[in-house]
Amino acid sequence: MTADGQVVAETDASYPLLTPQPGWTEQRPHDWLDGVRRALRDLSARLETLHAAPVALGLAGQMHGLVPLGASGEVLRPALLWNDQRTGAQVEDIERRVPRADLVARTGNRAVTGFQLPKLLWMRDEEPGLYARLRLALLPKDYLAFVLTGVAATEPSDASGVGALNLSRGEWDTDVLGALNVRPDLFPPVQPSVAVTGTLTREWADHLGLPAGLPVVTGGGDNAAAGIALGLGAARPQTGSVSLGTSGVIFAPQSEPRPDPQGRVHCFAHADGGFHLLGVTLAAAGSLHWLHAKLAPDTPIETLLAEAAQVPPGADGVTFLPYLAGERSPLMNPDARATFAGLSLAHGRGHLVRAVLEGVAASLADTQAVIRPLSSLTELLSTGGGARSDLWLGMVSAAVGLPVRPTEARPGAAHGAAILAMPAAGLHPDLNRAMHAVRPVPDEPVTPQDLGDAPQRYALLRSTLYPASPTDPDPAGTPG
Ligand code: XUL
Repeated sequence: MTADGQVVAETDASYPLLTPQPGWTEQRPHDWLDGVRRALRDLSARLETLHAAPVALGLAGQMHGLVPLGASGEVLRPALLWNDQRTGAQVEDIERRVPRADLVARTGNRAVTGFQLPKLLWMRDEEPGLYARLRLALLPKDYLAFVLTGVAATEPSDASGVGALNLSRGEWDTDVLGALNVRPDLFPPVQPSVAVTGTLTREWADHLGLPAGLPVVTGGGDNAAAGIALGLGAARPQTGSVSLGTSGVIFAPQSEPRPDPQGRVHCFAHADGGFHLLGVTLAAAGSLHWLHAKLAPDTPIETLLAEAAQVPPGADGVTFLPYLAGERSPLMNPDARATFAGLSLAHGRGHLVRAVLEGVAASLADTQAVIRPLSSLTELLSTGGGARSDLWLGMVSAAVGLPVRPTEARPGAAHGAAILAMPAAGLHPDLNRAMHAVRPVPDEPVTPQDLGDAPQRYALLRSTLYPASPTDPDPAGTPG
């Protein structure tokens, strides 16, 4: 990306997902490095033909994962990922030792199965031999920086997804870690997202065809980095975003940490020095892809969406709860499961697809009901693969009660990583000016789509099946 936000070259590389048991998700850090190698070699070759010399490398990545390293930096076991749900017992343990209100006030979050801290406790409980060898717990993108530069560091946006960062101080919370008997020196130092972690080692530079000494900038967690690319920050707290990726996310910038006292949405540091609320529906486009793969893998997804568009609002009474992977906001229940309800012989494929779209929109509305009293959002920019469907975005707009504006460039986390690297590269004096220079111009809001009585049926079904979940927004909206 150039200083004015033009993307010069893009590439990607994929890597396998391991699911050794139901509810477990892992990846081999070695496979990430292989992907980095393929992608950066390809990019450096293309930059060479364009006579374009890179001046910095920024990082963004999936949040919350645990990359456990031993004394010589060796990876002790495959990384446990953000959507791994094996840590229910460890979350209960954290809740026994640190009162929820205290944990939320300190870290912005209650204990969450996906976060890194319970994964560490799981390793201690279940793999004590390996845990005894643990010297450093890194997040996925920070592991890449560690390999590329030899330096271990993290930054606030990703560190706040560990579950042990004191949000207002921006440091590891030694009281929380002490209560859990976890050594603070297992975690890397926290520095600003725009800080240089280190420079590209000679070995990797030769390997990748990139200049040795290239600054590698710490960067941000994927959601924060995508927020940077969309120009979201404390300077404009009224503009947030909705992402319809595998997971569905509502992102609301804050200038001070103002968590939900019950922790039904996350409160994280932003990569611009501010903060943000983040509500997560774990299976958003993930639900649509699941239905597509199971029901009609040979039919283009566009055909399915066109069939859904022919079905009346409310899907003729079919209701879908999208909890295929458990649910975060606002249920915070890893054991929740998805449901179709209201089916009859008269219903067809289009009804199922429409019910999935409406169910995901209703679940984002549940999240927005928690965010509303804690934020000043008046509009959402859209991002993620699902944002290609105006029908779906229109349903989300109607369900959450906010205008949703697509951006033509649909910038994502990788763009944010590049922007976060611009100050260190000397392309802009600071992050604010970099964000201003590259900010995408959003289109007109999509037309809100009628949902019929889908939201009411969704709420009834959800509260019937999951009555114990604290789903109703806090009436007073009391800040934590
Ligand atoms: C956020 C979260 C996901 C991952 C996906 O809390 O878990 O958005 O970052 O990459």
